[in-house]
Amino acid sequence: MQAVVIEGGRLRWRERPDPVPGPDEIVVRVAAAGLNGADIMQAAGHYPPPPGVPADQPGLELAGVVEQVGGAVRSFVPGDAVMALMAGAAQAELAVVHAGHALAVPQGMTMQEAGGFPEAYCTAHDALFTQARLGMGERVLVTGAAGGVGTAAVQLAVAAGASVVASARDEGGHAALAALGAEPAAPAQALAMGPFDVVLELVGAPGLPGALGSLARWGRVVLIGASAGARCEIDVSVMMQRRAALRASTLRNRTLEEKAGVVQALGHHVLSLVSRGRVKVAVDATYPFDEPQDAYDHFSRGGKFGKVVLVAQGGRA
Ligand SMILES: NC(=O)c1ccc[n+]([C@@H]2O[C@H](COP(=O)([O-])OP(=O)(O)OC[C@H]3O[C@@H](n4cnc5c(N)ncnc54)[C@H](OP(=O)(O)O)[C@@H]3O)[C@@H](O)[C@H]2O)c1
Repeated sequence: MQAVVIEGGRLRWRERPDPVPGPDEIVVRVAAAGLNGADIMQAAGHYPPPPGVPADQPGLELAGVVEQVGGAVRSFVPGDAVMALMAGAAQAELAVVHAGHALAVPQGMTMQEAGGFPEAYCTAHDALFTQARLGMGERVLVTGAAGGVGTAAVQLAVAAGASVVASARDEGGHAALAALGAEPAAPAQALAMGPFDVVLELVGAPGLPGALGSLARWGRVVLIGASAGARCEIDVSVMMQRRAALRASTLRNRTLEEKAGVVQALGHHVLSLVSRGRVKVAVDATYPFDEPQDAYDHFSRGGKFGKVVLVAQGGRA
């Protein structure tokens, strides 16, 4: 098979051995695979994958058709359309996937959308609902809202009945964020639109003092991204006055069981919203698998709305 491979910091389409499934795994013929910030960092040599995952093969999410199943797998059969969360090596013709990390692609969802769904939606759903325990009618701020995780989080929070402020520095995305049901705002204005019950901080540590200061009593901040920096100074009295909670997490390094829990919770709560058209992956651009560098360059330029997705030629759309 062929796969996206990192060679000297550049992305190439190269020959690799076909993967073989273990008892709890499935082999998927990949139709589409979304890009994520972690892929960009991995290509630059800054984000080694967990043990057991090839260091030169990026890709955290995919969609495609099951080709083989391991001996212990009962949830899928060859021919099923699935999408899956991966620890790496998703951007390839064939990928081996833990069966518990895969979901059936629901009616009405294209393979391009499905290929950009698992990582962004697992991250957003886990942060908002499992970690921050977002409730009906609460007020939410999502920073970095025009990206893959941000557009997912905005839609999930709106679907859950929250009132959502979406902060994005590129005003070109504001109309599209409003169309998703959020109040768009420039980062400098968004904090004044609180108080917020939940802030999903996708930009980085420099946003934390403002996020904590914008909280309502018993408010929660969940930090997921640190592209703007990993350090800041926090006045804990601001947290104490608000009885605030601050959480931070990564998804990729969790155990197989923890990740299966995140994926299955997403499937249980969100797939019916997808099939009813209440939630739809925002795809900014697609590129053929054999032109990965162009896709990575597009992602790295910024200014996109939603996901960049690599797609197989001639596969199911
Ligand atoms: N912890 C985890 O498990 C986990 C999982 C997935 C993603 N992440 C991280 O979470 C973040 C969001 O992921 P994503 O997939 O949504 O990434 P993305 O698609 O690249 O979106 C990032 C968004 O943040 C904006 N942004 C970046 N730097 C900014 C800054 N200094 N000030 C204001 N806005 C800024 C970008 O705006 P521009 O387009 O204008 O640059 C973009 O809209 C990334 O850092 C990613 O690495 C973490």
